[in-house]
Amino acid sequence: MCDCKLPDTPGPIGVFDSGYGGLTILREIRRRLPQYDYLYLGDNARAPYGNRSFEIVYEFTLQAVRYLFEQGCHLVILACNTASAKALRTIQQNDLPHLDPDRRVLGVIRPTVEQLGRLTRSGDIGLFATQGTIASQSYDMEVAKLFPDFRLTGVACPMWVPLIENNEANRPGADYFVKQEVDKLIEKSPTVDTVILGCTHYPILYDKIRHYLPQNIKLISQGHIVADSLADYLKRHPRLETKCSKNGRSTFLTTEQPDKFADMASLFLGDEIEAHKITFD
Ligand code: DGL
Repeated sequence: MCDCKLPDTPGPIGVFDSGYGGLTILREIRRRLPQYDYLYLGDNARAPYGNRSFEIVYEFTLQAVRYLFEQGCHLVILACNTASAKALRTIQQNDLPHLDPDRRVLGVIRPTVEQLGRLTRSGDIGLFATQGTIASQSYDMEVAKLFPDFRLTGVACPMWVPLIENNEANRPGADYFVKQEVDKLIEKSPTVDTVILGCTHYPILYDKIRHYLPQNIKLISQGHIVADSLADYLKRHPRLETKCSKNGRSTFLTTEQPDKFADMASLFLGDEIEAHKITFD
């Protein structure tokens, strides 16, 4: 068990990302499950995570999970593919038993891969993700487990998260980097018929990616998939569900400047928000 005492009363659902990307997941979760309270934590001061080592992503993610548990969350969603790829399994297997075996941490990769069967016809799947997610081969492993006949072609897009974190996504400079990675994917796998945005930041570039991707190819954002999967999970886990408070409130935390976070978050969520700064001990 954790040496700190974790609150046992119902608390918000924790949603964690390295920065703004997880807001694309939170937006869909709130739309699907508006009755719950949410506590969003963006580690903007240390974003991007995409090029960081396994050890560092694990260490940062564990810090965040611990913090969210201490704030009363019984369930934390890693709304970040990089953290899901590099930290989720270790946290679930090694850390949760000590922190609190009744709390849960869920990721975004498995629920996304589960949907591929109904999306693809050719079985040729494309994946845009961070370098870290691609190198971890987490998507490859999940696809091999669930759909052994499918072929997955991954392309790392190291410039996309920095563009988004620096509010450059809607400016013309972003086009160059989007087109470059889209062309790379099509060149590697001309028969791909479904492309996953395997980084929660990327839906912010959705229109630009859609513009350069041939129109016959499906482009899949994860938000609604994760939201449906969470709704189903809560139905199947009534004990945990009663530990999720229901006042329809969201709170936003960032490790960087709260004003900047609030401005950007309002843009992504389509809603005015207030953010608070936190620091990890
Ligand atoms: N939004 C994250 C993801 O889904 C992480 C991006 C980053 O920090 O590099 O992978």
